[in-house]
Amino acid sequence: MDQFVIKGQKKLSGDLTVSGSKNATLPLLAASLLCKGKTILRNVPDLKDIHTMLNVIKGLGVEYSYNKGLLEINTQHLTTFNAPYELVKTMRASIYVLGPLLAREGKAEVSLPGGCAIGPRPVNLHIETMEKLGAKIKVEDGFIKARANKLKGTQIFFSTVSVGATANLLMAAALAEGETIIKNAALEPEIGELITFLNSMGADIKGINTDTLTITGVNKLNPIDYTVVPDRIEAGTLLIAGIITKSPITIKNINPEHISALLKVVEEMGVILSITGNNIQIKKVGKLSPVYIKTIPYPGFPTDLHPILATLLTTVPGISVINETIFENRFAYIPELIRMGAQIEVDDHIVIIKGTKSLIGADVMASDLRGGAALTLAGLAANKETIVHRIYHIDRGYENLETKLGKAGANIKRIKGQNI
Ligand code: EPU
Repeated sequence: MDQFVIKGQKKLSGDLTVSGSKNATLPLLAASLLCKGKTILRNVPDLKDIHTMLNVIKGLGVEYSYNKGLLEINTQHLTTFNAPYELVKTMRASIYVLGPLLAREGKAEVSLPGGCAIGPRPVNLHIETMEKLGAKIKVEDGFIKARANKLKGTQIFFSTVSVGATANLLMAAALAEGETIIKNAALEPEIGELITFLNSMGADIKGINTDTLTITGVNKLNPIDYTVVPDRIEAGTLLIAGIITKSPITIKNINPEHISALLKVVEEMGVILSITGNNIQIKKVGKLSPVYIKTIPYPGFPTDLHPILATLLTTVPGISVINETIFENRFAYIPELIRMGAQIEVDDHIVIIKGTKSLIGADVMASDLRGGAALTLAGLAANKETIVHRIYHIDRGYENLETKLGKAGANIKRIKGQNI
């Protein structure tokens, strides 16, 4: 397993450019199954999760080629309708093929994802919404086995805001008969992207960027050429890398609106930013103040930035609090930060952080994607050497993280194949 070896307390400088969004690309790959022919996606990040999803759709009979962000997918012929456990267990978003397969083929068999490092993450809403569209579903032998003659429009109110279930429903309803109305739909930019993508393919979805969506089913969707938006969570991570190292870097190629909740928090803490067009420059990181924040669905503070902001807060004098309301177990990074001298604890789902002057380098282990990125940032800020183990978690969602940080002046190296 690869590791990051980081010699901390180096200043960063220059520009860091954000890659295409992982969580926007994943549903687009599934949505390409809704049409027959060649879809082209640009700015697709070279990430483990993207390759897992490509393997899922390849297993269905799709042909593709990927070269430096350019992805060509041929969905003309599907040969099966099964997403196997071997792939789904490594990435839950594989469940995105459920809606498109049901809409196109009238059948889908998708392995149940099983446990997850950040919480139980049930898929009940995905299943219930497909049933409301008229699918017959059995959960059997570890699989969601779904059948439908023709999906029929319906009204759905989500009791919990779910990005994944909203996306799956949008894709299935796009080809259903009649009108589907979704209330309490997720507002995340990745949903906006999916709606724009589907409408460009010929779908009829109204209400983009609101929590009520009306989908009038169409008979056919057509393949398109589409460019993926920049990754808002990567942008937030790179911004915090600059703040934690007190470096005047510029984050390029990001829609600042997509991370407005984070920008508000760091400005409230005392960071001075200059935002122009798609660039965010850190002007000054002086004495920072602690904060209280709660993770909530978009446009609130994103759960995916919780461990990353928490790491910054361990270096900010005073008591800060993060109330994690989305995932039950997003706390595996905490004992690792404690190994680096942080004063941080979790009580129920409330993280309490007492800022210390500086972190101390240590061996730490990533247990999930965002927790791994948080430990990497801790290593950038710490004195001495930090070794982040199990960085395969980070490779799921950050494209060339060590190369980007290294070019900006960080002393970070990937050591290949070390086992612990
Ligand atoms: N939930 C249910 N039942 C369901 C689906 C969700 O109870 O059927 C609950 C979840 O357990 C959670 C809440 O609803 O408590 C929200 O989950 P959501 O469905 O919105 O999450 P997701 O679609 O599985 C996506 C991102 C996550 C991100 C969350 C929240 C992708 C591929 N994943 O997950 O990203 O944390 O939305 O914003 O888009 C990451 O990139 O590191 C990551 C985990």
